[in-house]
Amino acid sequence: MPNNLLELFFATSKNHPEILRIAKTINELSQFISENIGNKIGFVPTMGALHQGHLSLIKAAGKSTDFVVVSLFVNPLQFNNPEDLEKYPRDLENDILLLEKSGCDLLFAPSVEEMYPENTPKIELDIKNLDSIMEGKMRKGHFDGVVQVLYRLFSVVKPDEVFFGLKDYQQCMVVKCVLKAYFPEIKLSLEPTVRETSGLAMSSRNQRLSKEGQEKAAEIFKTLSYCKSLYPLYTPQEIISRGKEMFKKSNIETEYLEIADSDNLNFPVSWEKNKNYIILAAVYIESVRLIDNLFIN
Ligand code: PAF
Repeated sequence: MPNNLLELFFATSKNHPEILRIAKTINELSQFISENIGNKIGFVPTMGALHQGHLSLIKAAGKSTDFVVVSLFVNPLQFNNPEDLEKYPRDLENDILLLEKSGCDLLFAPSVEEMYPENTPKIELDIKNLDSIMEGKMRKGHFDGVVQVLYRLFSVVKPDEVFFGLKDYQQCMVVKCVLKAYFPEIKLSLEPTVRETSGLAMSSRNQRLSKEGQEKAAEIFKTLSYCKSLYPLYTPQEIISRGKEMFKKSNIETEYLEIADSDNLNFPVSWEKNKNYIILAAVYIESVRLIDNLFIN
């Protein structure tokens, strides 16, 4: 990550282990990790622009492990849209300030070249229906990019436990596939979505919204909550139609609104006993793509 601030913190942190330690290369990371043999390592992967949602993951990691590693890497492979990559919020100065107070022990902030040196082998993982519905369908190649970066991050950090937010529910399912296939020894912790008082799910992308946009975005949670309140009186399809109608009334563009079995993300035609369901949405507000979800039973 070419950044003077990072250079400065990096230089200082080497001599002052009491302040946030920073590794920019895999070698530096491995050195810090090797000093922690015997300690349980918790890992929170991020793309920066940190908010309370990330901090709650770091807190959870601090509670159940001895040494918390946070990665900050805006992974180009998971952006299907170059404009989205370019506009992805970056605020390293604030991220470092937040991390210093967060309980993070080590920040891993590699460059793209460090993460993906020439001839990095591509991981081929069959993630089944996850690649052809909702996020997988709308953001072609996105989950493939997530698989590549997680494989690489988990291989170098070698965590005992990893922490992800349920806001990215479909991504959590992809993480399960990566762990099952390659890292069955790593424990997965999924943490609840952290929301603003308005109900808006915390997201780095919220920073791109105007004040009015943020107010409008609170309608996402309201709509999902309304849909939840209709369960099980109406069929899944009827609930989805009503939810889309509500988004339309708020002038929110729906990309998808789906109800799925929370175990496998299959779409139900009717309700079945002993199954758990989740409603998931992706919408556009002020050209910013936002996602959210709610368990409905
Ligand atoms: O959820 C994210 O921020 C990213 O998809 C992740 C897991 C850090 C991989 O780049």
